[in-house]
Amino acid sequence: MRVLVTGGAGFLGSHLCDALLAEGHSVVCADNLLTGRMANLEHLLDEARFEFVEQDVCRAFDPGKIDYVFHFASPASPADYLKHGIETLQVGSAGTLNCLELARQHHARFLLASTSECYGDPLEHPQRESYWGHVNPVGPRSVYDEAKRFAEAATMAYHRYHHMDTRIVRIFNTYGPRLQINDGRVISNFMKQALRGEPLTVYGDGLQTRSFCYVSDEIEGILALSRFSEHLPVNIGNPREFTVLESAQVVLQVTGSKSTVLFEPLPQDDPKQRKPDITKARALLGWEPKIELRRGLELSLEYFRGAVQSLSS
Ligand SMILES: NC(=O)c1ccc[n+]([C@@H]2O[C@H](COP(=O)([O-])OP(=O)(O)OC[C@H]3O[C@@H](n4cnc5c(N)ncnc54)[C@H](O)[C@@H]3O)[C@@H](O)[C@H]2O)c1
Repeated sequence: MRVLVTGGAGFLGSHLCDALLAEGHSVVCADNLLTGRMANLEHLLDEARFEFVEQDVCRAFDPGKIDYVFHFASPASPADYLKHGIETLQVGSAGTLNCLELARQHHARFLLASTSECYGDPLEHPQRESYWGHVNPVGPRSVYDEAKRFAEAATMAYHRYHHMDTRIVRIFNTYGPRLQINDGRVISNFMKQALRGEPLTVYGDGLQTRSFCYVSDEIEGILALSRFSEHLPVNIGNPREFTVLESAQVVLQVTGSKSTVLFEPLPQDDPKQRKPDITKARALLGWEPKIELRRGLELSLEYFRGAVQSLSS
């Protein structure tokens, strides 16, 4: 296949490009480098089956004949989407419609990278795909949450009205090499602080929970979904739940750091609990994550050391 990956210079998009190339496909990556980095793709630039196009996907473009569109373009971390609120709304709405139209013109399949943020601050725990969510439509995070909810609605509309072959993956918190060191999320924050010997910042009492999926597990799940005919959303994430304080302990053990913990006030709309119910992915795709947090952090340690070093140089 010839595959278009939007947002391919980002954390997940670049791992997806690697995995698609390893499966023998040709990959066109379209990215405007808003939050992504060419460094994530450096190792692919000599690859004959790989092409990079610097492109804002909110604007019309035609990458030539394509068989599959993986639409991953969007700021993803709270730090990025709060800084680029309007761009986040644009890429989720105009960008998604544009990419759906592109897929329709080429009779290509389409997979949307959606998010657990569609569930907002959930009243149902763990979150099943059938839960419609508890989202504040006018809060600071709404630029991301509502953009993704619109993107899901647009994807379902192209499936229903144009009979397009579409998929929606609801990605839960994923980490691993190439995660932006300054993205403000739990793992990158803690790894950075631990490796610098600074106190680990815990918001609130640290008893709020998170689940963390290692990147190779996440990409395997996404590819399994891309091959399976299910049009409604499917959660892909790791259901093992950690309190933020527990995850701080694991980071301290893996890094061997002597850092302490510093408590700060909870930001507005910070979700208290986040844990995927992956019954659907297990049943449909036979997929489940294999790499537990400690192992995933060990696999990421060298990357984080390098990223911390380049921050200080
Ligand atoms: N990483 C996670 O834990 C996570 C969780 C849930 C959902 N997701 C989704 O997965 C996708 C990728 O996330 P990520 O963590 O790799 O983020 P990232 O910021 O590393 O990558 C996003 C990429 O999209 C590009 N981009 C943004 N706006 C664009 C535009 N208008 N045109 C072209 N390119 C544009 C950025 O430059 C960047 O390379 C996003 O859609 C995100 O919402 C990620």
